[in-house]
Formats: sequence, C-alpha cells, structure tokens
Amino acid sequence: MTERVAHASLALESAMRDVADEIDRQFELLLPIPADPRARLYAAMRHAAIGGGKRLRPLLTFATARLFAVDPGCTARAATAVECIHVYSLIHDDLPAMDDDDVRRGKPTVHRAYDEATAILAGDCLHALAFEILAHPATHADPFVRAELVADLARAAGPAGMAGGQMMDLMAEQSSFDLATVTRCQALKTGALISCAVEAGAILGRIPPDARTGLRGYARDIGLAFQIADDILDVEGDEDAAGKKLRKDEAAGKETFLTLLGLDRAREQARLLVEQAIAHLHAYGEEADLLRDIARYTLERDR
Ligand code: IPE
Ligand code: IPE
Ligand code: MG
Ligand code: MG
Ligand code: MG
Repeated sequence: MTERVAHASLALESAMRDVADEIDRQFELLLPIPADPRARLYAAMRHAAIGGGKRLRPLLTFATARLFAVDPGCTARAATAVECIHVYSLIHDDLPAMDDDDVRRGKPTVHRAYDEATAILAGDCLHALAFEILAHPATHADPFVRAELVADLARAAGPAGMAGGQMMDLMAEQSSFDLATVTRCQALKTGALISCAVEAGAILGRIPPDARTGLRGYARDIGLAFQIADDILDVEGDEDAAGKKLRKDEAAGKETFLTLLGLDRAREQARLLVEQAIAHLHAYGEEADLLRDIARYTLERDR
C-alpha cells in the first residue's frame, strides 16, 4: 500500500473538502425528515447520501463547470443530481441480491442499518430525486439546458450506462469475459456516470457537443483508470481506508483488469490512461489544473 499513499495536491484537497461540504448541504436542504410514516425512508436516504464518499463525480462537475464560468448554484444542483444516481447505485449494489455487503463508506449499508425494503425504496427515491433536481428551473434558466441534463443523466444511468454495466458485472461471475468485454462492462458500470458528471459541466456552460471532444476523451480515460484502481484496491487496499469490504472480486470468481492483465500491467495501463486523459485537456490552460489533479488522483487514491 505504501507507494499509493495519496499525495493529492493542496488545491485538490481543498476543492474536495469544499465540494463534500456543498453536497452535504444540498442533501440537508433536499431531505428534511417529515413528521409522518415516511420518516424512515428519508432517514435511510440521509444515511446513504450525507457525510461520506469521495464525492468524485460532483467534483468533476464543479471542475468542468469552472472552465466555463458557470453559476456555482447551478453547478451544485447538477452535481448533486449525479451524486443521487451514484448513491442510489451503491445502495442497490450492496443489497443481498447483488453484492450482499454490510459496510459502505465506513458505515453499515442501508439494508443493514434499516431493512431491505427500505433500502430498495431509498434507492428508488434518490433515482427520482436526481431528475426532479435537474428539471427544476433553479438548475438552469433555459429549459433546453435542463432537458439535455436530464437526457444525459438518464442515458448514463440506464441500460446503456450504469445499470447495463451492473448486469454485465453480474454475468461476469458466470461467464469468462475477455479484455474487450471487461472494458465495456467497466465503461458502462463506472465510466458512464463519470462521463456524465463531466458532460454536465459542459452542458451548463452551453458548450456545443462538437466542442466537447477533449472533455469526453478525458472522462472516458479517467473512468477506466478509476475502475482499474478500484480493482487494484480490491486486491491490495486497506478496508478501513476504503470503508468497504475488499477481496470480493476474486472470491466471486470475477474476471477483472487484474485477472486479465496481472497487477503490474494493470497499474501501467491505468498510468497510461491518466497521462492520456491529461493530454486530452491540451486546449485548456491552468483553469483545467483541477481536472488534471483529479486525473492523477483516480490512481493515487487509497480509498
Ligand atoms: C464506488 O464508487 C463504486 C464504483 C463505481 C467503483 P466510489 O469509489 O466513487 O465510491 P464513493 O462515492 O467514494 O463512496
Ligand atoms: C459497483 O461496482 C458500481 C456501481 C455501479 C455501484 P462494485 O460492486 O465493484 O463497487 P464496490 O466495490 O462495491 O464499491
Ligand atoms: Mg457490484
Ligand atoms: Mg459492490
Ligand atoms: Mg469494486
């Protein structure tokens, strides 16, 4: 583990703290506990959404929106919507029917702290909340911008994105995937939402799709590097730092970048992806330094 002790830049550390505080604040505003029988549902949503996680996807939305001087209030809402989908995906990923995990973000998983039915509903509600946030005029004055945010997040969450990748991931336990299939699985499971987080910043900045090529290449590469790092952490990470159970992929007999490439080549591949991601930002000056720092962090992280 020692060589991967995170040495995030000071700017990155401070941006991560600010974004984490802002996302907690947004969820506090969105999820007051009602004085009726739904209180348990809201409490479960708050348990999952507030006070934990790296907030990598919101950070990516902020770091991208910064390139285009987007209003921070609008950015915060779009970033929260992406995090809603992520948190919902974690709640459902941890359920007994999927990975059957007891610990997430250093706390009991939602079905452990509450119960399975409540966890399913809390996930459902965060999924719906994401689109409610994006559709609200406070997210952007222009309804065309809001519609594009909604459409992009829906695509990233659905069968051509995260949920489709989760299905492939389940199939990976039964069939033997080759490198191309593992890459596609990870690009959907993890990459789609990471790409959406970057895209949201560009959409808010009203950047036309043909001017987003560099950012899309950046997002694709860090998404893959991030997942290779997740696979490496699963093998040699520290459970307390990660805040979740590790050593699960091998136990499940799952084909991953590590089983296919071996540790050294997987790490080298991830390093190349980070370099390539940074090269995609060549059109931007120091305003993109935070994105560059995030690219390095995807690999250097210890959680
Ligand atoms: C965990 O995501 C699940 C994957 C997609 C690998 P993160 O590693 O971003 O989890 P949090 O948000 O920091 O808890
Ligand atoms: C989950 O992938 C990705 C999601 C879409 C939630 P993993 O199952 O590998 O994530 P961890 O290791 O439980 O965080
Ligand atoms: Mg899983
Ligand atoms: Mg899991
Ligand atoms: Mg994992």
